[in-house]
Amino acid sequence: MGRRLGFTALGASLALTLAACGGEGAGGSGGAGGGDSDDLTIGVSMPTQTSERWIADGDNVQEQLEAEGYEVDLQYANNDIPTQSQQIDQMITEGADILIIAAIDGTALAGQLENAAANDIPVISYDRLIRDSENVDFYVTFDNFEVGVAQASALLRGLGLQNEDGSPGTATGPFNIELFAGSLDDNNAFFFFDGAMSVLQPLIDDGTLVVKSGQTDIEQVAILRWEQETAQRRMEDLLTSTYNDGTRIDGVLSPYDGISRGIITALENAGYGPTIDAPNPMPIVTGQDAEIASVKLIQDGVQSSTIFKDTRLLAEQAVIAAQAFAEGNEPEANDTETYDNGVKVVPSYLLPVVTVFEDDIQAELIDTEYWTAEEVAAGQAD
Ligand code: GAL
Repeated sequence: MGRRLGFTALGASLALTLAACGGEGAGGSGGAGGGDSDDLTIGVSMPTQTSERWIADGDNVQEQLEAEGYEVDLQYANNDIPTQSQQIDQMITEGADILIIAAIDGTALAGQLENAAANDIPVISYDRLIRDSENVDFYVTFDNFEVGVAQASALLRGLGLQNEDGSPGTATGPFNIELFAGSLDDNNAFFFFDGAMSVLQPLIDDGTLVVKSGQTDIEQVAILRWEQETAQRRMEDLLTSTYNDGTRIDGVLSPYDGISRGIITALENAGYGPTIDAPNPMPIVTGQDAEIASVKLIQDGVQSSTIFKDTRLLAEQAVIAAQAFAEGNEPEANDTETYDNGVKVVPSYLLPVVTVFEDDIQAELIDTEYWTAEEVAAGQAD
């Protein structure tokens, strides 16, 4: 079992170790400098296994931490808030030295974080910001506002309103679109939506884009827990209400691949498709996460695009941050302004994102070994 991190004591003992061993840290193989990882346990709390991305995140974090010599206690919470709280409490009771947490409800963990702070356990918020707590020590994520900008730009490109380089496309509109957002208890949902609306709002204002349902507030378009079925139901409702006069819907802003698949199922059931090209063109649907089922849909010309966030790199940043804490240091942030969690601005490390259309699958996802060509063809991870 791990032992508590006494920062000063650990720093001192590390200094002694370094002096005695000529700079060779125990157990480390490079990375952030090979910290004193022996005997340290890192609790990793992930939201759910129903989405591939979190499975990949958990696997990547675990593998990379173990490669650095840490013990890892990895738990998934089944998208159930009490389960996640309980799992984190248990990690603390069992002696976790550092916590890495991807919250289900970013506002529900203040109690757990207080408990962590009382036990000198640094907390790294993973991908989703934990809110309303001063005890979040670091945040590793992607540039979430930019994700939204990229999703909206991909929608415009799919509609032909914009070229790849951002210049105006040949289409002029007007186009009917609908908007979807993520879960309101996830801070990211607001960043994605705000980023997207920064691009779309001017075009809604000038009539190029028409949100026929009139639903343009995040509260109206949010999908609780990012669930595919909930998204499918909302799309079905829109089709049978707003579009029951035979009006075509041309595009859908979707913030996440699971939501996109729900939207696509509803559209297919209403007679759209089978592809973006013919015979009754599938509307342009965006996405996020490059989940394998959606990458296949993109390859098949059904879903238009996704935003790829390389979870291997995110795991790496989480490990680098954990190592810094293990060595008694503060992790290096590249953003100290954006992520105010309601109590404080949390120092963050933001990673860049990549837009993927069908033509990008090979270079961005297969050549980088995120997915194999076989997995893309099967629409399933091996
Ligand atoms: C968000 C995350 C997205 C997507 C979504 C649903 O917090 O940033 O990449 O995974 O949750 O799981």
